[in-house]
Amino acid sequence: EEQTSPTSSSSSPPPSSHFIGRKEDIVQAKRVTKLVGGRDVLVLCHQGKLHAMDMRCYHTGGPLQEGDIEEFDGRMCIVCPWHKYKITLEEGEGLYQAVNPSATPPKPTWRSKGVKQRVHQVTEVNRDVYVTFNDSLDTIDSDFYQTERYRATMNKA
Ligand code: FES
Repeated sequence: EEQTSPTSSSSSPPPSSHFIGRKEDIVQAKRVTKLVGGRDVLVLCHQGKLHAMDMRCYHTGGPLQEGDIEEFDGRMCIVCPWHKYKITLEEGEGLYQAVNPSATPPKPTWRSKGVKQRVHQVTEVNRDVYVTFNDSLDTIDSDFYQTERYRATMNKA
């Protein structure tokens, strides 16, 4: 079944989804992070819409829960607080500005690096919010910061 939006409503939680919290609590907090099913997930509410993604930035593991949300090239992005990488909320694409040096004056344009951050599906059931992992088998850059190896490094630091 094709989902047109990562947020959907239904009468029971999808199989293998993870409970995050009550919708009103998430809306009030604006951002919630939770370790569910072995993954640190960020769920955020922006302009009334819920989004979920891996919590640590695909670049070097920055805390996306502390990032600002801004629009670039007509797309809502979270901006990583560490090195200001921009990640689209809907797809997890990394956006960057490219400059065409042969244009006069050189004009920056927005480009996509492709999907870099794993974004997950959010489902609401009776105002309870669940996340279903995006189980794409393709490795996505942010996966590295979800591994035991990475967590072990963090705990030693
Ligand atoms: Fe997020 Fe570098 S860790 S931009």
